[in-house]
Amino acid sequence: MKENPSISVTILLAYFILTIGGKEVKCITQEKNTSAIPLNQKVNKTILVDGRDVYDCIDVNLQPAFSHPLLKDHKIQMEPSSFPLSTSTKSPLMDAIPQAQLALIECPTGTIPILRNKRRVHMRVETIGKVISQDEHEVAGIEYFDVIYGTQAKINVYNPMVKNNSKDLSASWIQISKVQKVGVADGIGAGSWVYPSYSGNNFARFHVAWLDGLKTCPDHDCGAFVQVSSSVGLGGRFKPVSVYNGPQYVIDVVIFKDPKTKNWWVAYGPQNIHIGYWPRENFHFMKDQCNYALWGGYVQGPTASSHSPQMGSGHFASEGFGKAAFVSNIQIVDNEGKYVSPNDKQIGLVATNLSKYTAKAHGYGYSHYGVHTYYGGPGGFV
Ligand SMILES: *[C@@H]1O[C@H](CO)[C@@H](O)[C@H](O)[C@H]1NC(C)=O
Ligand SMILES: *[C@@H]1O[C@H](CO)[C@@H](O)[C@H](O)[C@H]1NC(C)=O
Ligand SMILES: *[C@@H]1O[C@H](CO)[C@@H](O)[C@H](O)[C@H]1NC(C)=O
Ligand SMILES: *[C@@H]1O[C@H](CO)[C@@H](O)[C@H](O)[C@H]1NC(C)=O
Repeated sequence: MKENPSISVTILLAYFILTIGGKEVKCITQEKNTSAIPLNQKVNKTILVDGRDVYDCIDVNLQPAFSHPLLKDHKIQMEPSSFPLSTSTKSPLMDAIPQAQLALIECPTGTIPILRNKRRVHMRVETIGKVISQDEHEVAGIEYFDVIYGTQAKINVYNPMVKNNSKDLSASWIQISKVQKVGVADGIGAGSWVYPSYSGNNFARFHVAWLDGLKTCPDHDCGAFVQVSSSVGLGGRFKPVSVYNGPQYVIDVVIFKDPKTKNWWVAYGPQNIHIGYWPRENFHFMKDQCNYALWGGYVQGPTASSHSPQMGSGHFASEGFGKAAFVSNIQIVDNEGKYVSPNDKQIGLVATNLSKYTAKAHGYGYSHYGVHTYYGGPGGFV
């Protein structure tokens, strides 16, 4: 990658959004045993992927979100009313990096695949997701502080090491939020996570999440997400993943607001498969726009700061392409629904503990890789 030396300075910026629910906040949620259970739907078909991941095909109108009281009058939206428009007329990249793939799930029309994971089979829908209250966080990447209606990027997929017996996760992702004031925000994100206590193993998997104050609700947890795709399985394993100093793989991800319905959509892959959306009813603050974005890595969990997992490739940002993880070709969606490069004056680097993880930013507008960041580090694995 072509670097722009003038901005290759690692600095530490004010970082506030992900400290919501951080060490200073102590809040233990009482887990209620409510009767709504995500598996009460009739399963139309069960599909086994890779001999280990079990997907149940469930009627799209009976998915977990529709047992949520907030959505009792919600009418499902099967397609976004419009898609953000590209303003660039650039030819395809000559040296495009290949995509990490998700297995295609072939659920019957009218049904959606839902992965059985550790939490889904053991917990009731209302309690799922309320386990984040005492979590620690660390972040490295780039942040953005201005009005934003969505973002797209290419996320380099690695398999960072996370201790099997911890409840920590290591994410490579994109996130947008509406920050009302410090500690009060909601948001959404998507990318690749290694989260052994959730999925039962250490593979990099595709996850989306709804961030509601203290809660992080992955995929269908909390009944937050309405899925419409019958072929993309949330929680699916990426193959292949990048190898340090070897082949690199990326995924394309977009999150954006539907200007008509004000639902927040997520789309995946070079064909922009629209997977589904977080209904507007979910949000306290993201009624119309966001004012914060994060691209890069974050680690979260009870020991994410005290015994930190790896982030990205497990190597520092300074190692650059092929060795440090990156998020590239970062674009934001403006108020006209067009993709534009983020204004560099509103961008800042974030790295919450430089002894564990670092970040660099590059290429405002004139590199092949657009605006991009290298980030990551070994955490406690040194
Ligand atoms: C929750 O309630 C159901 C039905 O009332 C019961 O079968 C189940 O064992 C309970 N689970 C827990 C964890 O208490
Ligand atoms: C589920 O499968 C049955 C046949 O096994 C079919 O008749 C029905 O329409 C399916 N339901 C959905 C929602 O696809
Ligand atoms: C962690 O789990 C993986 C399988 O998911 C296994 O190969 C590895 O040996 C485990 N590591 C430890 C330290 O238990
Ligand atoms: C950063 O991490 C190191 C190693 O775990 C720790 O000793 C140090 O206190 C941390 N610094 C901050 C500012 O949290």
